[in-house]
Amino acid sequence: MRIVVLVSGSGSNLQAIIDAVAAGKLPAQVVAVGSDVPACGGIERAQRAGIPTFEVPLPRGASAEERTRWNTQLADQVLRHEPELVVSAGFMRILSEQFLQDVAVPVINTHPALLPSFPGAHAVRDALAAGVKITGCTVHQVDAGVDTGPIIAQAAVHVEPNDDVATLHERIKSSERRLLVEVLKAVAEGAVRLHQLPG
Ligand code: GAR
Repeated sequence: MRIVVLVSGSGSNLQAIIDAVAAGKLPAQVVAVGSDVPACGGIERAQRAGIPTFEVPLPRGASAEERTRWNTQLADQVLRHEPELVVSAGFMRILSEQFLQDVAVPVINTHPALLPSFPGAHAVRDALAAGVKITGCTVHQVDAGVDTGPIIAQAAVHVEPNDDVATLHERIKSSERRLLVEVLKAVAEGAVRLHQLPG
């Protein structure tokens, strides 16, 4: 299974995928890693692993027209690597419906909360602020909404009394890395059927 991974940050989820592939635990190949954040940790991890990378930055305060162009450029870059699956692993941008149609393969995302609770870019902070005692992570298929696509798998994580955003997020991320690799393995082995989205 040819995978393109999209990242915006430190890339620890990407690293879990790279390590699982290298250890022969995931029958897949990371054919490229793309980012909207030049030289982010995820891009550096890909380069260290000898994986081709591409960067498509989105200017701050981009207009609707610029966002449309950015989605088209991103889809073009993704398609050059002929993926069978796109994985958003800490990619902090919303992918447009046009992007999903253009790439025409399933896109999955990992999110640091139990969706449909706490969608968006601040899931860990929002869960803490709400005072929940259990949160977790979700791997789901991406549709044109914000963290709304069909849920594939979830794992629960307890909130400890002294947690702050950093400590809680770190524990969620260690569950998340396992869950993401498990889901990718199930997809690669045909044990999970992904939807044809959108439409
Ligand atoms: C992960 O927790 C991921 O779920 C989250 O960013 C982190 C990336 O960590 N994504 C979102 O919040 C998307 N809404 P990483 O760069 O170390 O893999």
